[in-house]
Amino acid sequence: MSKVLILPGDGIGTEIVAQAVKVIDSLNSNHSMGMTLEDGLIGGIAYDETGTPLPDETIKVAKECDSILLGAVGGPKWEPLERALRPERGLLGIRSELELFSNLRPAILYPQLANASSLKTEIVSGLDLMIVRELVGGIYFGEPRGVEIKDGERFGINSATYYESEIARIGHSAFQIAQKRGKRVCSVDKANVLEVCELWREVMEEVSKDYPDVSLSHMYVDNAAMQLVRDPKQFDVMVTSNLFGDVLSDCAAMLTGSIGMLPSASLDQNNFGMYEPIHGSAPDISGKDIANPLATILSVSMMLRYSLNQGELADKINSAVSKVLDKGYRTKDIASDGDKVVGTEQMGDLVIEELET
Ligand code: IPM
Ligand code: MG
Repeated sequence: MSKVLILPGDGIGTEIVAQAVKVIDSLNSNHSMGMTLEDGLIGGIAYDETGTPLPDETIKVAKECDSILLGAVGGPKWEPLERALRPERGLLGIRSELELFSNLRPAILYPQLANASSLKTEIVSGLDLMIVRELVGGIYFGEPRGVEIKDGERFGINSATYYESEIARIGHSAFQIAQKRGKRVCSVDKANVLEVCELWREVMEEVSKDYPDVSLSHMYVDNAAMQLVRDPKQFDVMVTSNLFGDVLSDCAAMLTGSIGMLPSASLDQNNFGMYEPIHGSAPDISGKDIANPLATILSVSMMLRYSLNQGELADKINSAVSKVLDKGYRTKDIASDGDKVVGTEQMGDLVIEELET
């Protein structure tokens, strides 16, 4: 039996998580998965209902659960709020409180969607890369931070900071993942300019000594951005800091044609994890039954594989999704001429149909 905390959040979060919950219900009924669900609040809706984007209750329940499934947070409605109360704070807060330092962001191109990419098919076909992003340190959390008055004008400060132990643990994550894939790690930094990145590079070299079967290379982040659009298939695992990983993972996601297809995992030292689609809350399309629920459904698959030790059920979900795509069904974001365009609900139903046949 596993217990999973469900945090739909804001915008399309509710609609897409509802489809993932349908998939969970189906696996419970037909494959004795034995997953029980708890509902919780995070983000804008948590602010509306409790006055904070991350209620203590959410953290408390999260700690009693085996895993978390999150939709998305944020929306224009909460943008005027002071920073500490904004939905994004809820997300950053839960990552940090639960020490979910290892963020896995795969960019996989589904062969059925090769023409949805903005790059030429030959550049992206077969793409399968994994970005391992450090998630609870670096400039996102470094002190000092803030905006103050200095020399009679406003002065903004953020600090890019890493302890060697923080670099080492994300390094170990990346190398261990590479061992199960193509055995190549590319560490991305800006060591030609930033001291903190010099340390990053040094520690990655040290960590690599424990993994003689995995090769390590280094790349500056500006070049990495260029290489991602020039020849993304050169990469197996990329490991990088919080901010660089934020930027590069959006870029990598887009190579696959739809950010609406990509799940992610945020793991702690013991593989306790929070699983969520890579995309955001997309307020502009929320409530219209057009959002793509597949990234969230695939997040359940990732959860089964990485945290709950139920890889076979993960495979079942993946193959159901693949079969739905094979049959030509697409949500609007991944549709091209001749496809059968379906809505959020119907896409969820189609996946369940495949699971149940
Ligand atoms: C992401 C998002 C978040 C981040 C925001 C919503 C705080 O962009 O998960 O990539 O910057 O980490
Ligand atoms: Mg981002």
